[in-house]
Amino acid sequence: MARPWIDAWHEALYGPDGLYVRDEPHAHFSTATSPGLVEVLASAVVELMRRDGLSRFVDIAGGGGELAAAVCDLAPDLHVTCVEVRSRPADLDPSIEWVRSPGGAALPDALRSLTGALVLAHEWLDNVPCTIAERVGSALQEVCVGTDGTESLAGPVDEAEAEWAQRWWPQGGRVEIGTARDDAWADLVSRLDDGLAVAVDYGHLRQARPQTGSLTAYRLGEVVVPVPDGSCDLTAHVAVDSLVHDRLLTQRELIRELGLVPASPDRAMARTDPAGYLRALAHRSAVAAMSDPDGLGGFRWVLVRRP
Ligand SMILES: C[S@@+](CC[C@H](N)C(=O)[O-])C[C@H]1O[C@@H](n2cnc3c(N)ncnc32)[C@H](O)[C@@H]1O
Repeated sequence: MARPWIDAWHEALYGPDGLYVRDEPHAHFSTATSPGLVEVLASAVVELMRRDGLSRFVDIAGGGGELAAAVCDLAPDLHVTCVEVRSRPADLDPSIEWVRSPGGAALPDALRSLTGALVLAHEWLDNVPCTIAERVGSALQEVCVGTDGTESLAGPVDEAEAEWAQRWWPQGGRVEIGTARDDAWADLVSRLDDGLAVAVDYGHLRQARPQTGSLTAYRLGEVVVPVPDGSCDLTAHVAVDSLVHDRLLTQRELIRELGLVPASPDRAMARTDPAGYLRALAHRSAVAAMSDPDGLGGFRWVLVRRP
């Protein structure tokens, strides 16, 4: 039976037999928490925390704990918590706290009144299901989907969604309505009493929305047709400018602002410390990859300082 995309998507990822309940994300795609890149991400996290004197790192949608572990390696004095749908990986550093989450837009009740914390959601919001609609004349009609991926149009979207689309995504035939993501993000921010909330994701701005939408599916490393049957990841880029924010910048801008671009290692080091020289070169390449404006450097960082 066809259901609104937002419901079918939620069930496929977070239902009783959902992809993220069964599987770990990196079985299907890689992110900047992969070896090599994750150290760059961790150094950005630690630098932001040191600048604001924060002592607790909360990794929302922490995957297999890769970023949490890299932050611990870099700054063992920090208190680190991972919030995830799946259960705690057996080999995770015992000092990392693990909190189970319902998934999608919902966060655990235990996560409240956070103080002195940097709360970061790396590639969470793109996996928060949203309403998908198509413009038919001047009306916005909700798109429904069957478990085989066949789409059909239902009635008009609700008033709040129509207003969001009018304000934030006024053009294009297919619209991924951001209200569910805006609300999920605002909910997360409201749980932080004092500190910094950060969302990092691939996103777009009002002046350059994807005109035919961005819903994409990954299965075992390949891009496949989006089907909400629990066999693949379902993701759509985030309309980052509609999220509550104090600052919005690209990853490239942030890495530069934090002074994380290393100088080239001295060539003489290749003779005196060849292993160190290779490590320095590898780190420099990882920073370049994370700053590439046509790749990961184009990721958006959304920052909110509380109170
Ligand atoms: C694209 S993966 C990102 C994982 C990791 N942050 C990374 O960048 O490699 C999305 C992750 O979000 C998790 N997730 C989705 N909704 C969540 C929620 N409400 N609370 C905690 N984790 C959530 C999923 O279980 C999945 O592991």
